[in-house]
Amino acid sequence: MGLIKKICCVGAGFVGGPTMAVFADKCPQLNIEIVDINKERINDWNQNDLTKLPIFEPGLKEIIQRVRGKNLHFSCDIEPAIKNADMVFISVNTPIKQKGVGAGETSDLRWVEACARKISEVATGHTIVVEKSTLPVRTAKTIKDILNASNPKVDRFENKKSFSVLSNPEFLAEGTAIINLERPDRVLIGGDDDYAIESLKKIYLNWVPPERIICSNLWSSELSKLTANAFLAQRISSINSITALCEVTGADIKEVGKAVGSDSRIGEKFISPGPGFGGSCFKKDILNLVYLCRYFGLSEVAEFWNSIVKINSWQKKRIYSLIVDKLYGNLFEKNIAILGFAFKSNTNDTRESPAIDICKDLIKEGAHLNIHDYKVSKQAISKELDLDLDPFTNVLSRESTSKSWSFFDDVYQATKEVDAIIIITEWEDYKKIDWELIVHNLRKPSWIFDTRVLLEPSYFKNMDVNFWQLGLGF
Ligand code: UDX
Ligand code: UDX
Repeated sequence: MGLIKKICCVGAGFVGGPTMAVFADKCPQLNIEIVDINKERINDWNQNDLTKLPIFEPGLKEIIQRVRGKNLHFSCDIEPAIKNADMVFISVNTPIKQKGVGAGETSDLRWVEACARKISEVATGHTIVVEKSTLPVRTAKTIKDILNASNPKVDRFENKKSFSVLSNPEFLAEGTAIINLERPDRVLIGGDDDYAIESLKKIYLNWVPPERIICSNLWSSELSKLTANAFLAQRISSINSITALCEVTGADIKEVGKAVGSDSRIGEKFISPGPGFGGSCFKKDILNLVYLCRYFGLSEVAEFWNSIVKINSWQKKRIYSLIVDKLYGNLFEKNIAILGFAFKSNTNDTRESPAIDICKDLIKEGAHLNIHDYKVSKQAISKELDLDLDPFTNVLSRESTSKSWSFFDDVYQATKEVDAIIIITEWEDYKKIDWELIVHNLRKPSWIFDTRVLLEPSYFKNMDVNFWQLGLGF
């Protein structure tokens, strides 16, 4: 067993792509191959035009330009990449299960399992397998079982093959992924094989100070990731629950947030109110935690965490109902501009975006939506709004919603002659647009709904528009 020279990462997604790009940039001595079953995605990663990379992340294209074709390669040749690797990262998606035991509650591990079987089949010599995907606690046991059991433990060259499994959860947040990877608060490595832990630690030591690298056992590492996300989501549900109280009592959530966050024990980060948290991780990870608690009979703990998800769904419904109410209880033949469809700013990711539920509900009420986003494509919106899973057959069907919304890449066109504007994603550029012109072009009486507390309410006071802001009392 020597030093790690070759790395393979299975899954060229939001986690695998940026993570391996930073690894390659910080460790020129490593040769990294990112593989994926999705040909189109790999082609996009290999595009000459770096503005067309499959993922938008500030700072990513500059790194890709430096390392791609040198020590970072993207391909669909999964088997040779695994075979040649000393270390394989599993970074495939793990969405919530859609059917069967644990449906709607726990992660669908079919791709993780398939990945482990492939590694078990084609790896050679000693291979360190690293869980990068967020997984339910004790998934490492499943991976270990598969690696060690589903084949005779010799490789194709009759060498003995062996595996070590590590958990190395990713804490990057989309939109700030590169900063989070380059200057992580901490790196967590869980495992029971000291040699494997040291091998991965050595890689991180190329740019991460040693005191920021935490080592633990496998299960603590897996559980820490779920718990960290649950704590973060809990802060958002806490502040969002207070927005409703502010609106009825005359308090202002900006002032409350500032006063509360100034307590250094609480801190000012991660208490921005909004239409509810989205993204691929928070809901899924809390549901996994809830499932785990129920499995072990800890129903009170399960209910505690489940309420975080409940408040999140409630916030979206609350905002939608309030909009219908302000628009005289009727959206039929009304046009509404949706500003922002990404689940947060600085990303083109729409997974679990609060925009999805809010838009679907508004469409069901009869509204026509003009949707604008700076980075999300029309195709991505169509995937979220027009496809629905039939609850009985579990088959994806195209709903008739496609005629109920239009896509605009120009914010002025999107807002022309509409009855209302709803800001759902906090893109900074929405602060800089010509609001006077926009208000002038609205159909009167008109409304602006600011669900991200992005705009300054006093600015709209003397304009011919009704202005509603989340968490702002009368
Ligand atoms: C990550 C984590 O891995 C996941 O556990 C977490 O919950 C969300 O963040 P992410 O990188 O965001 O996932 O997912 P995605 O962008 O969908 O990328 C996963 C990639 O894996 C896709 O490109 C998919 O094509 C690929 N894949 C999936 C494989 O290459 N092989 C498979 O068998 C399955
Ligand atoms: C999250 C975790 O932050 C990250 O550590 C983990 O690895 C993956 O999941 P991500 O989902 O990419 O990252 O973004 P994050 O910045 O955490 O935002 C999640 C959601 O919460 C977004 O919809 C965001 O708009 C919302 N949010 C965040 C708020 O509403 N208020 C806040 O104060 C912060």
